[in-house]
Amino acid sequence: MSMPPAPSRPKHIAAPIRDIRQWAPNLWSIKIDKPEGFVFTPGHYVRLGIAAAPGHADGAIVWRAYSIVSAPAEPTLEFLITLIPDGAFTGVLTTLQPGGSILLEPAALGFFLAEQLSPGEHLWMLATGTGLGPYIAMLRQPTSLAAYRRLVLVHSVRHTHELAYAEELAQHAEASQGRLHYLPIVTRESDASHLHGRIPQLLAENTLQSLVQLPLDPSVSRVMVCGNPDFTADMRQWLNQQSFLPCRRGMAGSMLFENYW
Ligand SMILES: Cc1cc2nc3c(=O)[nH]c(=O)nc-3n(C[C@H](O)[C@H](O)[C@H](O)COP(=O)(O)OP(=O)(O)OC[C@H]3O[C@@H](n4cnc5c(N)ncnc54)[C@H](O)[C@@H]3O)c2cc1C
Ligand SMILES: NC(=O)c1ccc[n+]([C@@H]2O[C@H](COP(=O)([O-])OP(=O)(O)OC[C@H]3O[C@@H](n4cnc5c(N)ncnc54)[C@H](OP(=O)(O)O)[C@@H]3O)[C@@H](O)[C@H]2O)c1
Repeated sequence: MSMPPAPSRPKHIAAPIRDIRQWAPNLWSIKIDKPEGFVFTPGHYVRLGIAAAPGHADGAIVWRAYSIVSAPAEPTLEFLITLIPDGAFTGVLTTLQPGGSILLEPAALGFFLAEQLSPGEHLWMLATGTGLGPYIAMLRQPTSLAAYRRLVLVHSVRHTHELAYAEELAQHAEASQGRLHYLPIVTRESDASHLHGRIPQLLAENTLQSLVQLPLDPSVSRVMVCGNPDFTADMRQWLNQQSFLPCRRGMAGSMLFENYW
């Protein structure tokens, strides 16, 4: 007797939007219901889909990648999204509200995972803009970074109000009793309460290392870099000069990158 065919997994589903938080006019966090059985590791991303604005060349649905901000134990999938003026996806996203829905390909994707790195003592998590997202997921699941003695999270934004999750991160840092350092950087304001300057420059001149009193050295440090592709390119070049090694398929390295565009 032949077996009935296994039920095929839906290619995409409509996920209800539970909550939207506006950090700044151009920066939202959005929570959608997590489909039953959806499994992921902090650092993964998913593809979200949205019906394109009428007349858009991309056709009926525009698909884009978004890193998951929530931890696997949470009932919702959370994303931190910059709204791009006239963006094909985010331009339409601004018209949605809780109670509406968004399309989701129910498969976790990507290799921006701490487990890709070889064992080390200190993990440096470097982000510009929404590149912060994967690190929030990692910090919300304490086991994911348990192997590191010290953690340094550096987040660079143009304006203070774009420092999303700053309160949560400050709480993580306080609870960690010195294990986690959170270093927010604001590049286009000159207030005295934040660091200023671009991350590669602040590392090249040893400013960040001095602040946390840790070296950035491939013998003890592992580095994750996420966000603006000019930033990741600049970081790759500098880390190469410091003898950090990339992660390759089947070979753990000491530095790992995720480009957002
Ligand atoms: C693996 C991966 C993960 C990603 N995760 C996120 C995420 O968590 N949050 C997020 O906001 N975006 C993320 N992106 C980018 C996202 O997929 C879209 O490209 C972005 O939302 C713009 O889509 P759009 O159709 O509105 O704009 P488009 O019309 O496609 O315009 C694209 C332009 O917008 C700018 N841009 C795109 N993304 C960003 C960004 N994140 N920050 C600043 N400027 C940007 C660039 O100039 C780019 O050329 C990710 C991309 C990849 C490849
Ligand atoms: N943020 C806003 O106020 C704003 C307003 C209107 C429109 N937008 C649009 O929104 C999009 C996203 O803007 P965003 O501010 O989220 O992202 P972004 O331009 O990537 O800037 C985020 C942070 O990354 C830094 N950065 C950029 N390139 C870098 C590099 N090569 N090395 C190191 N650091 C680097 C920026 O510093 P610098 O400040 O030194 O560049 C800033 O601190 C852009 O397309 C922009 O045109 C943004």
